[in-house]
Amino acid sequence: MDLATLETRLAALRQEVEVALAQAPDVTSVERLRVTYLGRKGALQELWKVLPQLPPADRPPAGQQLNATKAQWTEVFQTRLVAAMSQAVLARLSSPPTLDRTMPGHPPAIGHSHLITQVIDEVLAVFERLNFTVVEGPEIETPFYNFDALNIPSDHPSRESFDTFFLASPEPDAYLLRSHTSPMQVRYLQQHRPPCRIVVPGRVFRPDAVDASHCFQFHQIEGLVVEPGVTFADLKGLLTAFARAVFGSETTMRFRPHFFPFTEPSAEVDIRCIFCRGHGCRVCGQKGWLEILGAGMVHPQVFEAAGLSGTAWRGLAFGLGIERIAMLKYGIDDIRLFFENDVRFLHQF
Ligand code: DAH
Repeated sequence: MDLATLETRLAALRQEVEVALAQAPDVTSVERLRVTYLGRKGALQELWKVLPQLPPADRPPAGQQLNATKAQWTEVFQTRLVAAMSQAVLARLSSPPTLDRTMPGHPPAIGHSHLITQVIDEVLAVFERLNFTVVEGPEIETPFYNFDALNIPSDHPSRESFDTFFLASPEPDAYLLRSHTSPMQVRYLQQHRPPCRIVVPGRVFRPDAVDASHCFQFHQIEGLVVEPGVTFADLKGLLTAFARAVFGSETTMRFRPHFFPFTEPSAEVDIRCIFCRGHGCRVCGQKGWLEILGAGMVHPQVFEAAGLSGTAWRGLAFGLGIERIAMLKYGIDDIRLFFENDVRFLHQF
Protein backbone atom coordinates (compact mmCIF):
# COMPACT_ATOMS: atom_id res chain seq x y z
CA MET A 1 0.00 0.00 0.00
CA ASP A 2 1.27 3.47 -0.84
CA LEU A 3 -0.07 6.98 -0.61
CA ALA A 4 -1.55 6.94 -4.08
CA THR A 5 -3.58 3.77 -3.38
CA LEU A 6 -4.82 5.25 -0.14
CA GLU A 7 -5.88 8.41 -1.94
CA THR A 8 -7.77 6.40 -4.53
CA ARG A 9 -9.58 4.47 -1.86
CA LEU A 10 -10.41 7.67 0.01
CA ALA A 11 -11.77 9.23 -3.17
CA ALA A 12 -13.91 6.15 -3.82
CA LEU A 13 -15.22 6.29 -0.25
CA ARG A 14 -16.08 10.00 -0.58
CA GLN A 15 -17.99 9.23 -3.74
CA GLU A 16 -19.81 6.38 -2.03
CA VAL A 17 -20.81 8.58 0.92
CA GLU A 18 -22.04 11.32 -1.38
CA VAL A 19 -24.28 8.93 -3.33
CA ALA A 20 -25.56 7.14 -0.22
CA LEU A 21 -26.37 10.41 1.56
CA ALA A 22 -28.21 11.76 -1.45
CA GLN A 23 -30.47 8.72 -1.33
CA ALA A 24 -30.97 8.56 2.46
CA PRO A 25 -34.68 9.32 2.98
CA ASP A 26 -34.84 10.08 6.72
CA VAL A 27 -33.12 10.65 10.06
CA THR A 28 -32.67 6.94 10.78
CA SER A 29 -30.96 6.19 7.50
CA VAL A 30 -28.66 9.25 7.74
CA GLU A 31 -27.68 8.15 11.22
CA ARG A 32 -27.08 4.60 10.00
CA LEU A 33 -24.75 5.91 7.25
CA ARG A 34 -22.89 8.05 9.75
CA VAL A 35 -22.16 4.97 11.85
CA THR A 36 -21.14 2.98 8.77
CA TYR A 37 -18.62 5.54 7.53
CA LEU A 38 -17.64 7.62 10.53
CA GLY A 39 -18.24 5.25 13.45
CA ARG A 40 -15.57 3.72 15.62
CA LYS A 41 -15.61 0.60 13.47
CA GLY A 42 -16.54 2.53 10.35
CA ALA A 43 -14.95 2.59 6.92
CA LEU A 44 -12.78 5.66 7.58
CA GLN A 45 -11.43 4.19 10.79
CA GLU A 46 -10.45 1.02 8.89
CA LEU A 47 -8.16 3.12 6.65
CA TRP A 48 -6.14 4.27 9.65
CA LYS A 49 -5.05 0.67 10.05
CA VAL A 50 -3.07 0.77 6.77
CA LEU A 51 -1.03 3.75 7.95
CA PRO A 52 1.82 1.57 9.45
CA GLN A 53 2.13 -0.22 6.09
CA LEU A 54 3.00 3.06 4.30
CA PRO A 55 6.56 4.26 3.78
CA PRO A 56 7.40 6.54 6.70
CA ALA A 57 7.49 9.65 4.53
CA ASP A 58 3.95 9.01 3.29
CA ARG A 59 2.47 8.67 6.72
CA PRO A 60 2.10 12.35 7.71
CA PRO A 61 0.30 13.44 4.51
CA ALA A 62 -1.85 10.28 4.70
CA GLY A 63 -2.81 11.10 8.28
CA GLN A 64 -3.65 14.67 7.30
CA GLN A 65 -5.94 13.48 4.54
CA LEU A 66 -7.73 11.04 6.79
CA ASN A 67 -8.24 13.76 9.42
CA ALA A 68 -9.43 16.25 6.83
CA THR A 69 -11.94 13.73 5.48
CA LYS A 70 -13.19 13.01 8.98
CA ALA A 71 -13.72 16.71 9.69
CA GLN A 72 -15.48 17.23 6.42
CA TRP A 73 -17.80 14.23 6.82
CA THR A 74 -18.63 15.18 10.38
CA GLU A 75 -19.92 18.50 9.14
CA VAL A 76 -21.73 17.02 6.15
CA PHE A 77 -23.52 14.43 8.29
CA GLN A 78 -24.42 17.04 10.88
CA THR A 79 -26.02 19.23 8.25
CA ARG A 80 -27.89 16.32 6.68
CA LEU A 81 -29.12 15.16 10.06
CA VAL A 82 -30.52 18.58 10.95
CA ALA A 83 -32.19 18.81 7.57
CA ALA A 84 -33.76 15.36 7.95
CA MET A 85 -35.00 16.23 11.44
CA SER A 86 -36.68 19.45 10.44
CA GLN A 87 -38.21 17.66 7.49
CA ALA A 88 -39.69 15.11 9.89
CA VAL A 89 -41.09 17.85 12.14
CA LEU A 90 -42.63 19.65 9.18
CA ALA A 91 -44.18 16.43 7.96
CA ARG A 92 -45.74 15.81 11.38
CA LEU A 93 -47.07 19.34 11.62
CA SER A 94 -48.71 19.19 8.22
CA SER A 95 -50.32 15.78 8.71
CA PRO A 96 -53.58 15.53 10.67
CA PRO A 97 -53.11 15.29 14.47
CA THR A 98 -52.92 11.78 15.81
CA LEU A 99 -53.87 10.42 19.19
CA ASP A 100 -50.85 10.29 21.49
CA ARG A 101 -51.59 7.32 23.68
CA THR A 102 -48.67 8.10 25.96
CA MET A 103 -50.24 11.38 27.15
CA PRO A 104 -52.15 11.25 30.48
CA GLY A 105 -55.92 11.34 29.92
CA HIS A 106 -58.46 13.83 31.26
CA PRO A 107 -59.99 12.35 34.42
CA PRO A 108 -63.78 12.20 33.96
CA ALA A 109 -65.68 14.66 36.18
CA ILE A 110 -67.97 12.46 38.25
CA GLY A 111 -71.02 14.21 39.64
CA HIS A 112 -72.83 13.48 42.88
CA SER A 113 -76.15 14.13 44.55
CA HIS A 114 -76.96 17.64 45.70
CA LEU A 115 -76.53 18.06 49.46
CA ILE A 116 -80.30 18.43 49.90
CA THR A 117 -80.84 15.11 48.12
CA GLN A 118 -78.18 13.51 50.30
CA VAL A 119 -79.86 14.71 53.51
CA ILE A 120 -83.31 13.64 52.26
CA ASP A 121 -81.89 10.18 51.46
CA GLU A 122 -80.23 9.97 54.85
CA VAL A 123 -83.40 10.92 56.75
CA LEU A 124 -85.56 8.58 54.64
CA ALA A 125 -83.11 5.73 55.29
CA VAL A 126 -83.54 6.23 59.05
CA PHE A 127 -87.31 5.88 58.73
CA GLU A 128 -87.15 3.04 56.23
CA ARG A 129 -85.21 1.06 58.83
CA LEU A 130 -88.22 1.66 61.09
CA ASN A 131 -90.57 0.13 58.50
CA PHE A 132 -91.82 3.37 56.97
CA THR A 133 -92.82 3.48 53.29
CA VAL A 134 -91.71 6.45 51.17
CA VAL A 135 -94.48 8.11 49.15
CA GLU A 136 -94.66 11.35 47.22
CA GLY A 137 -97.43 13.80 46.40
CA PRO A 138 -98.19 16.63 43.99
CA GLU A 139 -96.52 20.04 44.28
CA ILE A 140 -99.66 21.66 42.89
CA GLU A 141 -102.43 21.22 45.43
CA THR A 142 -105.96 22.33 46.05
CA PRO A 143 -106.94 24.55 49.00
CA PHE A 144 -108.89 21.55 50.31
CA TYR A 145 -105.84 19.35 50.85
CA ASN A 146 -103.43 22.15 51.76
CA PHE A 147 -105.84 23.74 54.30
CA ASP A 148 -109.42 22.58 54.89
CA ALA A 149 -108.75 18.87 55.20
CA LEU A 150 -106.00 19.74 57.69
CA ASN A 151 -108.45 21.60 59.87
CA ILE A 152 -107.31 25.04 58.68
CA PRO A 153 -110.56 26.66 57.44
CA SER A 154 -110.38 29.85 55.38
CA ASP A 155 -111.04 32.21 58.29
CA HIS A 156 -108.62 30.46 60.61
CA PRO A 157 -105.88 32.80 61.89
CA SER A 158 -103.24 30.07 61.66
CA ARG A 159 -103.75 30.10 57.91
CA GLU A 160 -101.42 33.08 57.77
CA SER A 161 -98.50 31.02 59.00
CA PHE A 162 -98.90 28.87 55.91
CA ASP A 163 -98.72 31.81 53.50
CA THR A 164 -99.28 30.47 50.04
CA PHE A 165 -98.72 31.01 46.33
CA PHE A 166 -102.10 30.68 44.62
CA LEU A 167 -102.23 29.91 40.91
CA ALA A 168 -104.06 32.33 38.60
CA SER A 169 -105.23 29.68 36.14
CA PRO A 170 -107.26 27.74 35.12
CA GLU A 171 -109.43 29.74 37.53
CA PRO A 172 -108.09 32.02 40.28
CA ASP A 173 -107.37 30.29 43.62
CA ALA A 174 -108.55 26.82 42.54
CA TYR A 175 -104.97 25.55 42.79
CA LEU A 176 -101.92 26.52 44.77
CA LEU A 177 -98.29 25.50 45.31
CA ARG A 178 -98.37 23.37 48.45
CA SER A 179 -97.00 25.28 51.43
CA HIS A 180 -96.17 22.08 53.30
CA THR A 181 -96.10 18.30 52.79
CA SER A 182 -98.95 17.72 55.28
CA PRO A 183 -101.62 17.51 52.52
CA MET A 184 -100.29 14.03 51.74
CA GLN A 185 -101.58 12.83 55.12
CA VAL A 186 -105.15 13.15 53.86
CA ARG A 187 -104.44 12.08 50.27
CA TYR A 188 -102.76 8.91 51.51
CA LEU A 189 -105.45 8.05 54.06
CA GLN A 190 -108.14 8.48 51.41
CA GLN A 191 -106.48 5.86 49.27
CA HIS A 192 -104.95 3.44 51.79
CA ARG A 193 -106.84 2.00 54.68
CA PRO A 194 -104.74 2.23 57.86
CA PRO A 195 -102.67 1.00 59.59
CA CYS A 196 -99.85 2.80 57.81
CA ARG A 197 -96.39 4.26 58.33
CA ILE A 198 -95.31 6.73 55.68
CA VAL A 199 -92.71 9.43 55.09
CA VAL A 200 -93.27 12.01 52.36
CA PRO A 201 -90.31 14.00 51.06
CA GLY A 202 -90.98 16.97 48.82
CA ARG A 203 -90.55 20.57 47.78
CA VAL A 204 -92.81 23.20 49.31
CA PHE A 205 -93.37 26.88 48.55
CA ARG A 206 -94.08 30.03 50.55
CA PRO A 207 -93.95 33.67 49.44
CA ASP A 208 -91.21 34.56 51.91
CA ALA A 209 -88.75 37.39 51.24
CA VAL A 210 -85.41 35.72 50.53
CA ASP A 211 -82.69 36.11 53.15
CA ALA A 212 -80.09 33.94 54.87
CA SER A 213 -82.74 31.77 56.53
CA HIS A 214 -85.77 32.12 54.23
CA CYS A 215 -86.45 31.10 50.69
CA PHE A 216 -89.64 30.86 48.62
CA GLN A 217 -88.98 27.16 48.10
CA PHE A 218 -87.59 24.55 50.46
CA HIS A 219 -87.96 20.87 51.28
CA GLN A 220 -89.83 19.01 53.97
CA ILE A 221 -90.32 15.44 55.05
CA GLU A 222 -93.73 14.59 56.45
CA GLY A 223 -94.26 11.56 58.64
CA LEU A 224 -97.50 9.79 59.44
CA VAL A 225 -98.14 6.72 61.56
CA VAL A 226 -101.70 5.45 61.98
CA GLU A 227 -101.81 2.32 64.10
CA PRO A 228 -104.10 1.08 66.86
CA GLY A 229 -102.90 2.19 70.28
CA VAL A 230 -100.20 4.57 69.03
CA THR A 231 -99.38 7.24 71.64
CA PHE A 232 -97.47 10.46 72.20
CA ALA A 233 -94.79 8.32 73.85
CA ASP A 234 -94.29 6.53 70.52
CA LEU A 235 -93.91 9.94 68.87
CA LYS A 236 -91.22 10.91 71.36
CA GLY A 237 -89.38 7.63 70.97
CA LEU A 238 -89.54 7.78 67.19
CA LEU A 239 -88.28 11.35 66.92
CA THR A 240 -85.54 10.78 69.46
CA ALA A 241 -84.33 7.80 67.42
CA PHE A 242 -84.41 9.96 64.30
CA ALA A 243 -82.49 12.87 65.88
CA ARG A 244 -79.82 10.58 67.30
CA ALA A 245 -79.37 8.84 63.95
CA VAL A 246 -78.89 12.15 62.16
CA PHE A 247 -77.15 14.31 64.78
CA GLY A 248 -75.34 11.70 66.87
CA SER A 249 -76.13 9.35 69.72
CA GLU A 250 -75.54 12.00 72.40
CA THR A 251 -78.34 14.24 71.09
CA THR A 252 -80.77 15.52 73.71
CA MET A 253 -84.36 16.45 72.76
CA ARG A 254 -86.98 18.81 74.11
CA PHE A 255 -90.70 18.82 73.26
CA ARG A 256 -92.32 22.25 73.62
CA PRO A 257 -96.14 22.55 73.61
CA HIS A 258 -97.24 24.29 70.44
CA PHE A 259 -100.30 24.70 68.25
CA PHE A 260 -100.89 23.13 64.85
CA PRO A 261 -104.49 22.86 63.58
CA PHE A 262 -103.93 19.32 62.27
CA THR A 263 -102.52 17.78 65.46
CA GLU A 264 -103.69 17.71 69.06
CA PRO A 265 -101.71 17.80 71.23
CA SER A 266 -98.94 19.43 69.21
CA ALA A 267 -95.30 20.11 69.93
CA GLU A 268 -92.31 21.83 68.51
CA VAL A 269 -89.24 19.69 68.93
CA ASP A 270 -85.77 21.06 69.72
CA ILE A 271 -82.38 19.43 69.99
CA ARG A 272 -79.73 20.65 72.42
CA CYS A 273 -77.59 23.08 70.41
CA ILE A 274 -74.91 21.02 68.65
CA PHE A 275 -72.61 24.04 68.38
CA CYS A 276 -72.47 25.23 72.02
CA ARG A 277 -73.88 22.07 73.69
CA GLY A 278 -76.53 24.17 75.36
CA HIS A 279 -74.39 27.00 76.74
CA GLY A 280 -75.81 29.56 74.32
CA CYS A 281 -74.28 30.82 71.09
CA ARG A 282 -75.03 32.85 67.98
CA VAL A 283 -76.58 29.90 66.08
CA CYS A 284 -79.13 29.05 68.80
CA GLY A 285 -79.71 32.72 69.67
CA GLN A 286 -78.31 32.10 73.18
CA LYS A 287 -81.19 29.68 73.86
CA GLY A 288 -79.10 26.51 73.93
CA TRP A 289 -81.74 24.73 71.83
CA LEU A 290 -82.40 24.39 68.10
CA GLU A 291 -85.87 23.82 66.73
CA ILE A 292 -85.86 21.03 64.16
CA LEU A 293 -89.46 19.95 63.59
CA GLY A 294 -93.17 20.12 64.38
CA ALA A 295 -95.20 17.12 65.47
CA GLY A 296 -98.28 15.89 67.28
CA MET A 297 -101.14 13.41 67.44
CA VAL A 298 -103.34 13.46 64.33
CA HIS A 299 -106.44 15.64 64.89
CA PRO A 300 -109.78 13.75 64.60
CA GLN A 301 -110.89 16.25 61.95
CA VAL A 302 -108.03 15.11 59.70
CA PHE A 303 -109.29 11.50 59.87
CA GLU A 304 -112.82 12.72 59.14
CA ALA A 305 -111.59 14.70 56.11
CA ALA A 306 -110.04 11.49 54.80
CA GLY A 307 -113.35 9.64 55.27
CA LEU A 308 -112.24 7.77 58.41
CA SER A 309 -113.78 7.80 61.86
CA GLY A 310 -112.17 10.48 64.04
CA THR A 311 -112.86 8.48 67.16
CA ALA A 312 -111.79 5.05 65.92
CA TRP A 313 -108.33 5.92 64.65
CA ARG A 314 -105.20 7.22 66.27
CA GLY A 315 -102.12 8.55 64.62
CA LEU A 316 -98.99 10.57 65.05
CA ALA A 317 -97.54 13.01 62.56
CA PHE A 318 -94.45 15.13 62.16
CA GLY A 319 -92.96 17.52 59.65
CA LEU A 320 -89.33 18.53 59.34
CA GLY A 321 -87.47 21.04 57.19
CA ILE A 322 -84.58 19.55 55.22
CA GLU A 323 -82.64 22.78 54.65
CA ARG A 324 -82.68 23.51 58.37
CA ILE A 325 -81.36 20.05 59.19
CA ALA A 326 -78.67 20.29 56.49
CA MET A 327 -77.62 23.75 57.72
CA LEU A 328 -77.29 22.55 61.30
CA LYS A 329 -75.57 19.32 60.41
CA TYR A 330 -73.02 20.91 58.07
CA GLY A 331 -72.65 24.35 59.67
CA ILE A 332 -74.08 26.21 56.66
CA ASP A 333 -75.26 29.72 57.52
CA ASP A 334 -77.13 30.75 54.37
CA ILE A 335 -80.08 28.87 52.84
CA ARG A 336 -79.51 30.55 49.47
CA LEU A 337 -76.37 28.45 48.96
CA PHE A 338 -78.58 25.41 48.34
CA PHE A 339 -80.30 26.98 45.37
CA GLU A 340 -77.57 29.05 43.74
CA ASN A 341 -75.80 25.88 42.58
CA ASP A 342 -72.32 27.35 42.81
CA VAL A 343 -70.09 24.32 42.24
CA ARG A 344 -67.53 25.67 44.70
CA PHE A 345 -70.19 25.11 47.36
CA LEU A 346 -71.65 21.89 45.97
CA HIS A 347 -68.22 20.25 45.56
CA GLN A 348 -67.70 20.33 49.32
CA PHE A 349 -70.37 17.74 50.10
N1 DAH B 1 -96.79 21.27 58.27
C1 DAH B 1 -96.06 21.96 59.32
C2 DAH B 1 -95.29 23.13 58.74
O1 DAH B 1 -95.08 23.15 57.58
C3 DAH B 1 -95.12 21.04 60.01
C4 DAH B 1 -95.81 20.00 60.81
C5 DAH B 1 -96.11 20.23 62.12
C6 DAH B 1 -96.19 18.81 60.25
C7 DAH B 1 -96.76 19.31 62.90
C8 DAH B 1 -96.84 17.84 61.00
C9 DAH B 1 -97.11 18.12 62.32
O2 DAH B 1 -97.20 16.69 60.50
O3 DAH B 1 -97.77 17.19 63.08
O4 DAH B 1 -94.89 23.99 59.48
